[in-house]
Amino acid sequence: MCGSMSEPSAWLRGVHEPVKAELDHGDLPVEGALPPELCGSLLRIGPNPVTPPGARYQWFAGDGMLHEMRLEGGRATRYRNRWVRTPAASRQLGEAPRDLDWPTSDPANTNVFRIGDGVFALTETCQPYRIDAELRTLGRDDLGGALIGGFTAHPHRDPRSGEIHAAGYDLNDEPRLTQYVLDASGKLLSRFPVELGGPAAVHDSGLSERHWIWYDLPLLYDAGLAAAGWPVPYRWKPDHPSRVGVLERGAPPDAVRWLEVSPGWVFHTLNAYDVAGPDGAVREIVCDVVRFERIFDADITGPGDPYPPQLWRWRIDLEAGRVIEEQIDARVQEFPRIDSRFGSRRHRFGYTTELFDASGGSGVLVHDLEGGASASYSFEPGTRTSEMVFVPAADDAPEGEGWLLGTTWSASAPDHSDLVVLDATRVGDGPVARVRLPQRVPAGFHGDWLAG
Ligand SMILES: [Fe+2]
Repeated sequence: MCGSMSEPSAWLRGVHEPVKAELDHGDLPVEGALPPELCGSLLRIGPNPVTPPGARYQWFAGDGMLHEMRLEGGRATRYRNRWVRTPAASRQLGEAPRDLDWPTSDPANTNVFRIGDGVFALTETCQPYRIDAELRTLGRDDLGGALIGGFTAHPHRDPRSGEIHAAGYDLNDEPRLTQYVLDASGKLLSRFPVELGGPAAVHDSGLSERHWIWYDLPLLYDAGLAAAGWPVPYRWKPDHPSRVGVLERGAPPDAVRWLEVSPGWVFHTLNAYDVAGPDGAVREIVCDVVRFERIFDADITGPGDPYPPQLWRWRIDLEAGRVIEEQIDARVQEFPRIDSRFGSRRHRFGYTTELFDASGGSGVLVHDLEGGASASYSFEPGTRTSEMVFVPAADDAPEGEGWLLGTTWSASAPDHSDLVVLDATRVGDGPVARVRLPQRVPAGFHGDWLAG
């Protein structure tokens, strides 16, 4: 059923328990040695309800909170956290909202992304919130009029051109998907609608050097749930076919090809790239994803169904018009990241967070997708690990040479989290540095490294 109406939600306990204070702390204690070349801030975001939510709490709808961890010269010089001032969060904090209410759920809790000279807190189905260097909310932003509805939590940057490609959608009137292309400064280059086979949820998309890739999967908008007041009104509908759409970048939108895949759900793309034949024509698109068999079926309060997320490769054979599905790794994992300098191009390494290892703890997985091996590190039993963000050791370092940054939380010290830094080439050695943070960083979704 739709979650218990009497017990406190599991999405508010343990690593999910919200923090109540907005803090600013200077020099933080470090165990180990922080790489001195790491100069910048790790920004992370996730749900952190301002006030205790009602019985129908859905994890994806909690008010967004930003956490900044700043490193420079081998020191951890700042921790700071702030709620994003959406209208709902502002009212709960006793502040005057600066924006009008968005018609649907607008928590600003899912991702942090730099567009042009701005930094934005993102959630799908609504518009970004611009954040300043002090983590203050400057307001909801339609990117200079580029957005005609909701945006996405997962834009993709083409590292060569700097272009930003994003499959935005919203739930106003009827669910609708719009593909956006922005230049490196955030100026709109093009946008067009993408027709799905129904009101499907779309959390992420794929971008290769020459193609867009969309997912049309059986998690559908449910008007009954929306009318009943569920802010994330989606339900698994197994009759809806699972399809992957591909379109050459720049081709007319009606040239999209939809190819069937096994029933399943994908929140996140690791990366996608084209494989060309000797004549230069693209024959295959490789799209690496984390795939669930189903989701929001028995439990619509969060990803709580007993179907583990695992790493899969979809090889989209453009000549045969079919998708070859290969499981890369069966361990329970999510939050796929790459060395973003290789976004939309052939990647060798993929990084994921192992959610539940053999000891009931969690850790970091490094997948060598050319060599076929993987490396891993498990934190102590009872630890929960966030998404790990890859930061290259230098701008011109080879792929995979760099650092993995994320946060951990342990049931043995529930009021704190650590910022952990691992050498991505020697992940099995464990963290080279742990920074003790002054409070818990609750389980969140995504983040990014802002250099400088
Ligand atoms: Fe996500």
